[in-house]
Amino acid sequence: MLEFLRRLPKVELHLHIEGSLEPELMFELASRNCIELPYATVEEAKAAYEFDDLQGFLNLYYQGMNVLRTEQDFYDLAMDYFKRAREEGVVHIDMHFDPQAHIQRGVSLDVVMSGLLSAKHDAETSLDLSVGMIMAFLRDRPAEEALQVLEQAAPYWKSLDAIGLDSAEHNNPPIKFQAVFARAKEIGLVRVAHAGEEGPADYIVQALDVLDVQRIDHGVRCLESERVVQRLRDEQIVLTVCPLSNVSLKVVDQLRFHPLPKLLEEGLKVTISSDDPAYFGGGLLTNHIACAEAFGWGADVFRLLNLNAIEEAFTSDERRKELI
Ligand code: ADE
Ligand code: ZN
Repeated sequence: MLEFLRRLPKVELHLHIEGSLEPELMFELASRNCIELPYATVEEAKAAYEFDDLQGFLNLYYQGMNVLRTEQDFYDLAMDYFKRAREEGVVHIDMHFDPQAHIQRGVSLDVVMSGLLSAKHDAETSLDLSVGMIMAFLRDRPAEEALQVLEQAAPYWKSLDAIGLDSAEHNNPPIKFQAVFARAKEIGLVRVAHAGEEGPADYIVQALDVLDVQRIDHGVRCLESERVVQRLRDEQIVLTVCPLSNVSLKVVDQLRFHPLPKLLEEGLKVTISSDDPAYFGGGLLTNHIACAEAFGWGADVFRLLNLNAIEEAFTSDERRKELI
């Protein structure tokens, strides 16, 4: 099974590139940019990655990305993950990135975009890895700020595949971003959103109805409402479920109690992703292996999940045919 999972050409739809920052690279960038870290060693950083909830993780996630300052830093961040993912048999990644988290710290949108786009270019030309770009907005920041960043990103609209919505879900309902998502739709951008990770099933419905999203990131709490499950099944909306993330952030107690098997039983269009691999114990292959151990899934289940991801991936039809 391990060899099958390693060889399976895997597609990842839900990956925050800032969440792929391994402590080793964090230390290297901190030294390059003369930044002091709150950890003395890589081991100390790793030991701090124990979370009670999403907010506990987000605090360290935003602190960690403070080492990213230059175009080269963003390039190195992305290439570091792309190379590791490729070694694990990943062939396509839809990559979220959080421009507001960088602009706030005085790092320009141009620096972020140039670094990430040149890494995407090099991955696509030299690694045989295709990359989708999802510009995500922080739902715990004002919607006006998100709208401003979306307008500021005009020179990059053609390089984006979608906009997304992430960060702290509690008390930040999708409806807060109605105007931002309406503007993105007007521009012709696809929309996705995190919903039903820590927030209620109702946020999933709002994301579909008010933000007109094409896929739901996480969505595991849909199971709290039969009506929402029915809707997701009827419309075959893709859920980008992140098993090890859900365990790390205590959305579920243990992987063997994760609702993934139930989501599949309900006929939902499920995919699996790593979310923030540097913080949650591993990348896409590790998530696959953990699911095989926890649920006893055979090759057919993984083939189905991967096919769901291929159908939904932000890539050309030509590339999609290659991936199938
Ligand atoms: N940003 C990075 N990872 C996230 C997650 N799991 N949920 C919400 N926002 C995020
Ligand atoms: Zn996420």
